[in-house]
Parts: sequence; C-alpha cells; structure tokens
Amino acid sequence: MAENLFVADNLTKEELYQTLLPQMKALTQDESNIVANLANLAAALKHGLGFFWVGFYRVKDNELVLGPFQGPVACTRIAYGKGVCGTAWKEKRVITVPDVNKFPGHIACSGESQSEIVIPIIKNNEVILVLDVDSDQIQDFDEIDEKFLGDLTSYISAKLL
Ligand code: SME
Repeated sequence: MAENLFVADNLTKEELYQTLLPQMKALTQDESNIVANLANLAAALKHGLGFFWVGFYRVKDNELVLGPFQGPVACTRIAYGKGVCGTAWKEKRVITVPDVNKFPGHIACSGESQSEIVIPIIKNNEVILVLDVDSDQIQDFDEIDEKFLGDLTSYISAKLL
C-alpha cells in the first residue's frame, strides 16, 4: 500500500484512532521487518494523534533499550522495574500516569513530558517490547487510549512479532 495516512479534520480522539488503526495495520501487515514496522507505527501515532513522543523500547539482556521512536531524543537504556517503562515491564500491565511529576521514580527524558502511558507487548507470556507514549499536557490519557493502544499492541504481538 502507499505510505500515506489519510485523516479528516476535526475528528475526536476516538474517531482519530478508528480512522488510523486500520491504516496502521494495512501499512505494516505485508512487511516482515520489525524495525521498519515499529518505525512507521511510531510515526503514525505521533503525527496522526499529535503526541509529544511515541516510541518502543525492546527488552535486550535484561534491560530496555531504545527502539524506533518519533520525538525528541530520549533515554537509551532503562533498567528492569525503573521508571514507568521498567515498571510496566516488571508488572506486565498498562500504566497510565496522569501527572509524571507525581509518579515515584519517573524517568524524565524531557522536561516537557507531563503525562504518559506505557503498554507492555507480550508474546508467550514474556514482555518483548514496551510502547511508550508521552504528552506535553497533564492528564492526556484515558480509557480511549488504553483501548486503542491495547488493540494496536495486541496486533503487534499477534501479527508482527
Ligand atoms: N518516562 C519514561 C522514560 C522514557 S521517556 O519518557 C521517552 C519512564 O519513566 O520510564
């Protein structure tokens, strides 16, 4: 398929996800290279939904290592159980942080990030990747993000890994 995304103006966040998700799946389903696919998914989320930072960290040698992302430069390595990403990995659960300044141990890659959601991507009961999305607005993530980003990460696990 063509490497373009089509998004109408004035959509709600839910409508944006509903419009973008099928396009993101179409963009990646016939490509076997995981780095290429994660790079395009990060770009689609960042530019389609206007987030401050979107990226993937990969579990490698018992650390999280920065993978494909869109946004300002970020921390390269995160230890197991550290920060929001390392905690989502350790606890194998989605973590939504309404105000990063109130999350004990939050790792501030950028002072502009105000709220954050991290979704672990699990295959055969093991965390392989985490998806990290940051906003420069406080309380920017809710159950709509949890639902659609959960759909995306299930797709990554089932079809791309
Ligand atoms: N804030 C994250 C670190 C990664 S950056 O936000 C890109 C954390 O606390 O794990």
